[in-house]
Amino acid sequence: MCGIIGYVGSKRASDVITEGLKRLEYRGYDSVGIAIYNGGIHIRKEKGTVEEVSTALQFTNLDGHLGIGHTRWATHGAPCKDNAHPHHDCTGKVVLVHNGVIENFIPLKSELEKKGHRFNSETDTELIAHFIEQYMNDGLSPFISFIRTVERLKGSYSIVSLIEGEDKIYIARKNSPLILGVGKDEMFCASDIPAVLNHTKTFVPLEEGDIAVISKLDYTVYDHFGNQIKRTPIEINWSSEMAEKGGYPHFMLKEIHDQVHFIYESLAADVSASEDLLNLFDNIQLVAAGTSYHASLVLKYLLQKFKGKTVESIIASEYPFVSFPTKDTLVIAISQSGETADTIQAVRYAKQCGAKVLALTNVVQSSITRVADKIIYLNAGPEVSVAATKTFSSQLAVIYKMLFSGDKNIDLSQIPQIIETILQQEEFIRSVAAQISNKKNIFFLGRGLSYPIAMEGALKLKEISYIHAEAYPGGELKHGPLSLIENGVPVIVLAPDDETSSKMLGSLKEVKTRGAYVIAITNNPEIEKEAHISINIPHLNPILYPFVLTIPLQLLAYYVSIRKDIDPDRPRNLAKSVTVE
Ligand code: M6R
Repeated sequence: MCGIIGYVGSKRASDVITEGLKRLEYRGYDSVGIAIYNGGIHIRKEKGTVEEVSTALQFTNLDGHLGIGHTRWATHGAPCKDNAHPHHDCTGKVVLVHNGVIENFIPLKSELEKKGHRFNSETDTELIAHFIEQYMNDGLSPFISFIRTVERLKGSYSIVSLIEGEDKIYIARKNSPLILGVGKDEMFCASDIPAVLNHTKTFVPLEEGDIAVISKLDYTVYDHFGNQIKRTPIEINWSSEMAEKGGYPHFMLKEIHDQVHFIYESLAADVSASEDLLNLFDNIQLVAAGTSYHASLVLKYLLQKFKGKTVESIIASEYPFVSFPTKDTLVIAISQSGETADTIQAVRYAKQCGAKVLALTNVVQSSITRVADKIIYLNAGPEVSVAATKTFSSQLAVIYKMLFSGDKNIDLSQIPQIIETILQQEEFIRSVAAQISNKKNIFFLGRGLSYPIAMEGALKLKEISYIHAEAYPGGELKHGPLSLIENGVPVIVLAPDDETSSKMLGSLKEVKTRGAYVIAITNNPEIEKEAHISINIPHLNPILYPFVLTIPLQLLAYYVSIRKDIDPDRPRNLAKSVTVE
């Protein structure tokens, strides 16, 4: 995830852009750049934060009323000056910034290389500038060249581009956020409303696939064929705090909703690092902590059941004491932050024992990337709330892509849309939260692939609501925990219609008979009939149920926390990344 911005008007563009980049920094903060057009295009960019780079390179000394800017969260290529945006074509006359992932960048780049284009960066972005250049060399106008280029791109993108000789900005969006702001004798575009909220409150909502051209006095929106289309501007009345959180009261709720978009980004992640390793090794150990450990349990299940591997999943802090990796072991370490000390120590220990280490992380150049042999990035963008939500779904998405991309029976592309449908039950889930927020103990039950999700649901609830919550495999109840069930104790039963559902029905009846208040997350009619309340999920290939079971549990935890007047973004005693052992 990156932050991008464009301005055309009468103000000094470098001032508007530098200020906007500061407001967009929550979207990425590894390198920053600006391009201003004042007869020629001037680019300044470097690794660092907006404050550091804009001060060192004196952004605001640049004269001109037309410009673009970018704050980067690296996906393709390390954070460094060459990979920082804006990027340009061979001539420096086509300059642009981009947010998203161009999935077909390898064939497109080689097509351009064969035509003589030379690249300065490792990014997937730069080829967009060269394509526009190529079409213009072929005799097309800048506008048609832009449209033709966008037509060629697969993946997600928001693009903001300057072309020398044009006093306008070309923009396009698909599966990546981009807003168009309309001021008096000035126009803006940005990844998010807060970037320009102090200049205008009038916005044109751009739909996926829209292309637009903005100039000082005017804007025109086109479909991807270049036909003009009408988009009606809206007025927005947000406070600056609301704006920072995209209109949501907390980052956690924003991040829950952002999952629809970021799963798409995660499904586009480069997982090639896992291919050879998974073929080469049969003994696999997984190490992780907290939410990432729950993702590792899903990975363990899938590797064992579908790939015939021998897999152990071990809590990172326990790993050096209970585990004996060798040179024949593949260790997969999962850490959203890449900074969790327990996980990094476990990786160091595994390496000392001669094991090969693959790390899954969200943060480019985090500590784990320096100790592991191979890295896969989650592409989930920065997560601000202490409670992990979107990064858990992104971990699942990357895991599924590692194991099942190319499997015709498993359609991963439907996941973002399905999550959207679960989010539509938010009001209902809020009402369920109201019924359990005054309880002291809450239990979660699951079996098979649903058990790690039950564990994740319990962790989320205890972390931000301070209610004691435990997850059990359904069959384990009768071996002890059943004695904790008494009248009115909420039990959240994860019972998708899969191989576990008849047994889960039995577990449900067991707790119901002892007075439990049963909340089922299910699509099985018999379970629905038995439960006191049901949160419905759609019918899917059973292997995909973890994605849809997770979302109601995140919303439930969030709304219980709100009912209890707790700030879910900053639960007591906890930190976002735990850098001590
Ligand atoms: O950054 P990591 O994935 O290594 O973090 C691991 C845990 O600290 C983390 O998942 C923690 O449990 C979350 N706060 C859960 O919401």
